[in-house]
Amino acid sequence: MDWMKNYHEDHKAVLILLAKLEGNILDLKAGLATPNTFVEFQEFGDVIRNVIIPHFKNEEEDIYVRVSDTGIKGREFIDKMLQEHEALYALFDNYLEAVKKKDTGSLVEVSGTLDQVLRHHIIKEEDDLPEFLE
Ligand SMILES: [Fe+2]
Ligand SMILES: [Fe+2]
Repeated sequence: MDWMKNYHEDHKAVLILLAKLEGNILDLKAGLATPNTFVEFQEFGDVIRNVIIPHFKNEEEDIYVRVSDTGIKGREFIDKMLQEHEALYALFDNYLEAVKKKDTGSLVEVSGTLDQVLRHHIIKEEDDLPEFLE
């Protein structure tokens, strides 16, 4: 379970990147975006592909199975978390598509939703998930 070492660290790192994403979106809305802002949108796309999606897959194969096996409450909790993963995979696709097309309108829209949903998801994993394994 080597990846578990990265579980909390990934969460912390992604929360910091989401704050940065939020700042870039505000710049974009205010017409203050520079070419570097767009490079940062692309870099967050790389983080989605190389860090966040593999992190989700690892959760689905490891910690989610363990929580689900603890009983009905654990199973219900994980069902909701898996629904959030599905919603987030769709948002990741939309985000990556918007970055690829440099479609700033959809980038603003999808980033706002992605930021909210992913932040909420990570906080639940940090605050609520561990008690199932105590
Ligand atoms: Fe997750
Ligand atoms: Fe997670």
